[in-house]
Amino acid sequence: MVKDDGLAAGKGVVVTEDIEQARAHALACERVVIEEYLDGPEVSLFAITDGTTVLPLKPAQDFKRALDGDEGPNTGGMGAYSPLPWADPKLVDEVLETVLQPTVDELRRRGTPFSGLLYAGLAITSRGVRVIEFNARFGDPETQVVLARLKTPLAGVLLNSANGTLADQAPLSWSDDAAVTVVVASHNYPGTPRTGDPIEGLDEVAEKDAPHAYVLHAGTKRGEDGAVLSAGGRVLSVTATGSDLAQARERAYAAVGRIRLDGSQHRTDIARKAAEA
Ligand code: GLY
Repeated sequence: MVKDDGLAAGKGVVVTEDIEQARAHALACERVVIEEYLDGPEVSLFAITDGTTVLPLKPAQDFKRALDGDEGPNTGGMGAYSPLPWADPKLVDEVLETVLQPTVDELRRRGTPFSGLLYAGLAITSRGVRVIEFNARFGDPETQVVLARLKTPLAGVLLNSANGTLADQAPLSWSDDAAVTVVVASHNYPGTPRTGDPIEGLDEVAEKDAPHAYVLHAGTKRGEDGAVLSAGGRVLSVTATGSDLAQARERAYAAVGRIRLDGSQHRTDIARKAAEA
């Protein structure tokens, strides 16, 4: 992965298996960054920590491109699912041992202890797990599917994180259900989104699809007459649970189908491959 070390309007990176192409791009850069090529799927794993104890949540995968088949521009996330049936059952333990716990321990050792939510963005490569990024916040839209599966009330876990008493936390309890969330985005997102359009069908979802499917609001507001209007790029996260990913997907897309927002867009392939596999 060869990258121009500067702003290049999105054209500065070459990701290639061809050494000559990599070399040619490197020679064309004034200053160059060379990074390991990551050949595997991405996973988001969140953990709650009090600065010493680290409590991992369940892994999820999000879909960052705007269009089906991972085409189109990058977005804040167009959907997510959990669990990951294709992932090694030992993944969470491995990431806890090799990534999350050492990171929290090192931050404490340096005198900059971190408590709160540590988000590891990972690539599962043929050479093992690699960290792409850390965030100090919940991820969106992965949180919608991870919390849909968490049976332990979250507030007590966060309180233990804040109070430094996470070691006393009872093991987290998880539903065996799968969860899928599909983001409904505005016209033109991720470019400047069109806003102010009325959203219809929310009551129908509440009547016909609850409790298995429900709508989480992201970019919405109330109009003067009380109508719900779009107010951002990613407008709604339509989330559903089911006994497996196929059922959760079916329920999420049935609910998406009831929502009417002029010009809106959503991906139709969230969790499809994982559900089929
Ligand atoms: N889902 C990516 C993020 O929250 O950064």
